[in-house]
Amino acid sequence: METRSQWGTRAGFIMAAVGSAVGLGNIWRFPAVAYENGGGAFFIPYLFALLTAGIPILIMEFTMGHKYRGSAPLTYKRINKKTEFIGWWAVLVSFVISTYYSVIIAWAISYSVFSINLSWGADTEGFLMNDFLHRTVEPGQIGSLVPGVLIPLIIVWVVVLGILFKGVKRGIEIANRIFIPALVIIFLIIVIRAITLDGAMDGLQTFFSPDFSKILDGEVWVAAYGQIFFSLSIAFAIMITYSSYLPKKSDITNNAFITGFGNSSFELLAGIGVFSALGFMAAQSGVGVEEVVSGGVGLAFVVFPAIINEFPGLNGLFGFLFFASLVLAGLTSLMSITETYVAGLTDKFKISRSKAVLFGGGIAAIISLLFATQGGLFFLDAADYFINQFGVALIGLVEVVLIAWILRKVKDLKTHANAISDIRLGWWWSLSLNVITPLVLGYMMFDLFRLNLMKQFDTETGNYEGYADIFIVFGGWFVAAAALIIGIVMAATKWRSEA
Ligand code: PHE
Ligand code: NA
Repeated sequence: METRSQWGTRAGFIMAAVGSAVGLGNIWRFPAVAYENGGGAFFIPYLFALLTAGIPILIMEFTMGHKYRGSAPLTYKRINKKTEFIGWWAVLVSFVISTYYSVIIAWAISYSVFSINLSWGADTEGFLMNDFLHRTVEPGQIGSLVPGVLIPLIIVWVVVLGILFKGVKRGIEIANRIFIPALVIIFLIIVIRAITLDGAMDGLQTFFSPDFSKILDGEVWVAAYGQIFFSLSIAFAIMITYSSYLPKKSDITNNAFITGFGNSSFELLAGIGVFSALGFMAAQSGVGVEEVVSGGVGLAFVVFPAIINEFPGLNGLFGFLFFASLVLAGLTSLMSITETYVAGLTDKFKISRSKAVLFGGGIAAIISLLFATQGGLFFLDAADYFINQFGVALIGLVEVVLIAWILRKVKDLKTHANAISDIRLGWWWSLSLNVITPLVLGYMMFDLFRLNLMKQFDTETGNYEGYADIFIVFGGWFVAAAALIIGIVMAATKWRSEA
């Protein structure tokens, strides 16, 4: 009587998991984070976080999804009735992320079109803010919808919801089997071109030169853990959902290692490509590489267009390939976050996939319009900042403390994974989940609250680009609390299915 959707092939599942993991975070977040936190020396905390938290939690989530065969809410409910709300909470945070992540992909679509004739001109920042976003409003104001964002945003949602509509095997799996190889090829072309540009070696030297004095700095470790969590899409209900579609016979541990190392390889590749390009840019304008380093929106939509302008040939083509790679990496991640709530709704209310896609995806698409307005960038920055600072680590901490300390499930899950996997989990896995990760994440959260909240409430030195810190923190906590409350309400609602 098993009617749950299933992946068609092992490669299909791995492509989908890698597709979720490899996203904007790899391309615009990792290079800047690594550079700011010790360059070459960052790899020590980064690898530690990968091996003691990233991959162990990935294995844990794969095992949970496989063993309990449910969306995150259903999986948590089957583990313990009282913990269903944690599943919904994670789903709702994914929901919030999907509302602004979709908008960044929409920008990238517009920019891939702009690349063709470099229509951003010489002043790439002015172009982004004025010509493209029409950001003529104050932070917190909304203004009107911006057509240049709205139209590609509609395309993003039509594509993603269309794929989810088709189902796990015929939709998500096929899309990832096409998008991910295409992404890898496009990205390799860009990186190979980038490292052969003038100045690329200076860029790489700046990126990799280790600053070992940073290793003892707590914030560097915080950055490493934050990067690993966000980058691997763990603690967001995603990997639980995807692994709930695995067939009974699946090598969980091996799949997790492939996903984890695949994502990190892509990250490293992006670091090399981005810093080669920054080295080129610095050489062109006769400044040091440190002066052109950036990350996030600024890197992708201001600095990269400027780099593309300077390219020694085929500018339009390379611009197009760069933004196309953002689009592909983003779409496969957006599919995975959106699937968390589609799966939650179908499990809980026994509605068809089509209805869940239409309802869940529809609401997300409507809310995403907020970020497609003139004031949208302020909201987007605020949401992204908050999720990265608090959301990722907080949910990860709650998850690990719950599974390892409160419900004491590490041993059970280990037995389950070992029965079907090639690589056997031993003391390293238990130690990571029972001791290292909860302690490090616990300390991290404590430190974040101490440092960040103090800074945030001090309007004089407010640390977030000078605008409305209070607005960000209150807005962020308001949304987080609302997600928790809705999660509790969802958990209290009656199940339509047997579950
Ligand atoms: N893992 C994705 C990235 O690196 C980001 C992401 C986070 C996607 C959370 C979905 C959910 O960009
Ligand atoms: Na990633």
